[in-house]
Amino acid sequence: MIRKGKLYYPDKAFKDKSWINDKSIYKKADKDPVKFWEDLAKEIDWFKEPKKTFSHYAPYFKWFEGGKLNITYNALDKNLETRKNKVALIWEPEPLNEEPRILTYYELYLEVNKFANALKKLGVKKGDRVGIYLPMIPEVVIAMLACSRIGAVHIVVFSAFSSTALNIRLLDTETKVLITADGYFRRGKVIDLKKNADKALKNTKVKKVIVVKRANNKVAFKKDRDLWWYELVENEKDECSPEKMNSEDTQFILYTSGSTGRPKGCLHVCGGYTVQAYFTGKWIFDLHDEDIFWSTADVGWITGHTYTVYSPLLNGATFLMFEGAPNWPKPDRWADIIDKHGVNIFYTAPTAIRMFKKQCGKLSRTKFKTLRLLGTVGEPIDEHSWNWFFRNVGREKCPLVDTWWQTETGGILISSLPGIGPFKPAYTGLAFPGFKFDILDDKGKSVKTNEKGNLVLLSPFAPALLRMVYKNPKKYKKTYWSDYGDKIYFTSDAAYKDKNGLIRIVGRVDDVIKVAGHRVTTGELENVLSKHEHVTECAIVGIPDKIKGEVPIAFIVSKGKVTESKLEKELILEIREKIGPVALPKRIYLVSDLPKTRSGKIMRRIFKRLFTKEPLGDLSTLANPESVKEIKKIIKK
Ligand code: WTA
Repeated sequence: MIRKGKLYYPDKAFKDKSWINDKSIYKKADKDPVKFWEDLAKEIDWFKEPKKTFSHYAPYFKWFEGGKLNITYNALDKNLETRKNKVALIWEPEPLNEEPRILTYYELYLEVNKFANALKKLGVKKGDRVGIYLPMIPEVVIAMLACSRIGAVHIVVFSAFSSTALNIRLLDTETKVLITADGYFRRGKVIDLKKNADKALKNTKVKKVIVVKRANNKVAFKKDRDLWWYELVENEKDECSPEKMNSEDTQFILYTSGSTGRPKGCLHVCGGYTVQAYFTGKWIFDLHDEDIFWSTADVGWITGHTYTVYSPLLNGATFLMFEGAPNWPKPDRWADIIDKHGVNIFYTAPTAIRMFKKQCGKLSRTKFKTLRLLGTVGEPIDEHSWNWFFRNVGREKCPLVDTWWQTETGGILISSLPGIGPFKPAYTGLAFPGFKFDILDDKGKSVKTNEKGNLVLLSPFAPALLRMVYKNPKKYKKTYWSDYGDKIYFTSDAAYKDKNGLIRIVGRVDDVIKVAGHRVTTGELENVLSKHEHVTECAIVGIPDKIKGEVPIAFIVSKGKVTESKLEKELILEIREKIGPVALPKRIYLVSDLPKTRSGKIMRRIFKRLFTKEPLGDLSTLANPESVKEIKKIIKK
């Protein structure tokens, strides 16, 4: 890498080999973004070419209307022509004594077709929703692709989410078929997934549960409802023609945390998602045929959908998938995996990097010889961690792309391109060609260089941007298309630009907390806590954390006779059961009152500032300023 002041640029060798290495691409895209995407979309195989590239009926919009395609045709069939026997997926199990599983493009194609036929036999049709509650095993890829093959809409639910979280999603989508596993390995333990899945079925419309045998743990089996995956596909035909999907047909729904307590279903569509997933992967990760790409993101999150599964396949790449925790059974398991399989491109989250840094310190210089590109996603990365990753893992040779995007955007929107740069520690960089951003103040005026404001996306937005909050157009409009009118998409992130136009993300301005890169909201947690019989009132705030970036802290006003430790235990259990371990508060504080305005609104920023030691600001609007004193004391203790 070449360094110029604070900026880094790719060296000549990298530049020469990369897909995009000429800055003029930005000018070209900027001039006419719609035409730009129209031309790019020609690289996708369509059953029927699109007629109209972009149309806008605020707050709704469409891309590639009139087009017909299937993402799996592009991910599988197309690759059979030149990459039939190329490895598509390398799966590394968590237990060290188990062998990796390798699937070539042809093998993956056969498995997907068989499972697609099995789903059809169960009555699953185009547009039907299918729940997927699976860990990081090859079957999750097969299941997602099989759904896409027949036009069914997958709803993947993170395997570490609780049965209640799964139940909410199954109910909301009226899902009839759920795919799960007996169990899986996590940090040496077998997690009994089927038990969770069974609990989640209460009151739902689920008629069939397909179970992958993974951990061989004993599971309850309900006759007529439960089916073993392996029995189901045993005699299935390995040919299933791909459903011809309209560009604006639903590709999948993925739930995410929003500003209220209930998660919302982000609805993505076939055409735009395929085009953006393909190109962002190709250009940002510079995927070439000889590369092995490892994205550590779990399929339960959007990064797992787009860059662990769809984008590498659309690009005919070889991708690696790992079942377990990257620091299990030893802190540098992740480093061993990179070396063992010769990973070339490594994409992970700042939380993981901070953990690697803490647990592994200076890594042996003999490691990582194969790496040529690094990427991060999900939360802001601090300068120190960026530098550690760049030096110790990237050996100062690999470009480091910091990719900004959201569940809503379906694919990356901001990231400098590796063959062009520049890269600047803690900055996510330039918008991907064809995307137009602005940073606005509260009145809607563009802020100046280095001034903080709200990050917004301007027309023509992005092909993969969500089209709807499932069954909730009101929420769609209010959340994304109301702060600056219905023609500007508000990201809910604060950001600023430096003099080179590089964007730095400051963080969320709504109630979303990014815990280890995972998205949870204060509302979601408060909903759970406030239902406890001994809780009168509660407030959740996100505070900075050295490893996880941010963690939730709970303040509780209790009622009735209960000891602090008993209540704390019960509340933790409650969150574990209703949401999952990702959302657990780091601390629970019992207080006698919460700081409120005279109109009764809880002043969350005060809690946060007590932790970050920022000035508390004007407290004169508080109805109960003495509560602040008490909280200060308790936190100090
Ligand atoms: C944050 C994850 C800083 C941001 C793909 C966004 C980031 C939210 C970055 C979406 C980044 C994502 N730098 N912050 N490179 N990438 N974020 O839906 O606050 O889980 O709004 O999607 O993560 O989180 P989500």
